[in-house]
Amino acid sequence: MNPVALIERKRDGGELSQSEYAAFISGYLDGEQVQEGQMAALLMAGVIQGFSVQEAKALTEVLLDSGDRLDLAQLRGPTVDKHSTGGVGDGTTLVVAPLLAAAGLQVVKLSGRGLGHTGGTLDKLESIPGMQVQLPLDRITEIAEEVGCVVAAQTADLVPADKALYALRDVTGTVPSMALIASSVMSKKLASGAGTIVLDVKAGDGAFMETAAAARELAELCVSIGAGAGRNTRAIVSDMSTPLGVGIGNGLEVAEVVETLAAPPEGRFAEVCLKLASLAASQAEGISEREAHDRLVSLWTDGSALETLQLMIQAQGGDPAVCQRPREVLPSAPVQVRVTAARTGTIARIPARAVGLLSMQLGAGRVQSTDDVDPAVGIDLQTGEGASVEQGQVLAVVHARTDADAEAVVARLGDLIEIGDDGEPAPTVLHVI
Ligand code: URA
Repeated sequence: MNPVALIERKRDGGELSQSEYAAFISGYLDGEQVQEGQMAALLMAGVIQGFSVQEAKALTEVLLDSGDRLDLAQLRGPTVDKHSTGGVGDGTTLVVAPLLAAAGLQVVKLSGRGLGHTGGTLDKLESIPGMQVQLPLDRITEIAEEVGCVVAAQTADLVPADKALYALRDVTGTVPSMALIASSVMSKKLASGAGTIVLDVKAGDGAFMETAAAARELAELCVSIGAGAGRNTRAIVSDMSTPLGVGIGNGLEVAEVVETLAAPPEGRFAEVCLKLASLAASQAEGISEREAHDRLVSLWTDGSALETLQLMIQAQGGDPAVCQRPREVLPSAPVQVRVTAARTGTIARIPARAVGLLSMQLGAGRVQSTDDVDPAVGIDLQTGEGASVEQGQVLAVVHARTDADAEAVVARLGDLIEIGDDGEPAPTVLHVI
């Protein structure tokens, strides 16, 4: 293998085969045949020239072959996995997993941590006192069998090549490529072993893909990779131009999950959760989406899904009382300041990315992957796009560690929440694939 010749071919718009990618990437991981600069050059050539669908599938296989695969065949099944491409106020995993488990499916979800303005499921879970997310594989499958769902940290042996490549992409401006994102996401999903995979590909300024068309292309590529690997794979494209839920911050999002499951499914957040769960259940059980939807709504409204969440939290060492009294059990921030409406009108815009960045500034998110997050801080929106508001009405509560932190965010948040004379709620589910 001649790394320079392969880089030059990609630079000039050519394609590489699966065996060429395998040799190049293992040469990089071994630290022998391929230097870091050469790996970065190949990635950048691909980002600029684009990769074919065939190359995306080849990359997925190469990443997948770099580590262990979870064997879920021993579970009673059917098994389901869910993935979101990341957003703001997006606690869907913590609703979808127990909801599907309450319906008799088994969900083994290996999650990541948040970076930048997007939150991570592990950080949210760790806001629950006692909650353990670093679990050995045998305990993961044991909880899946006992409770029906488990949400844990990805083990180091699963797709190690993606870990190494993602770290390099992160510092070389080579994250935004359909094929690189799809192969990174799908290699992890395929390695996690579930028979059915549902993907929530976000579109909007708070997402990787800003337009619905780009998000749809990514979703279609992921579905084609999943189907090609013999998994039932479905996807939605959902809006991330405005936060999905009202809680933005780790503990605040867990509180919203519990409060959402404790009430009938209504609003944007519940809509996306139900859509993902209905697609997964219909696909996994071979029933119509309508039948799956109706069954899931009744398991939501009769409290079964919340009860399953509680069992999962308990099995992972967390305080189960969080499911009865979330705001008492979760850590609360010492400073809470309200943001109020400067005028009467309609909420025209609450931009996802900017609000996510403010929550990060409060300490809820990470600038670098080694940063700690504060479980208590963030922003609790009290309104959404399209809602009518009166002058003086509370629009949001800023939860901060110090007065100075709150002060820095309150004025900016007040400016970001745009009040006009009219406004529409943003549509939530934009495409189903
Ligand atoms: N999420 C992933 O897992 N991989 C990417 O490349 C981008 C988002």
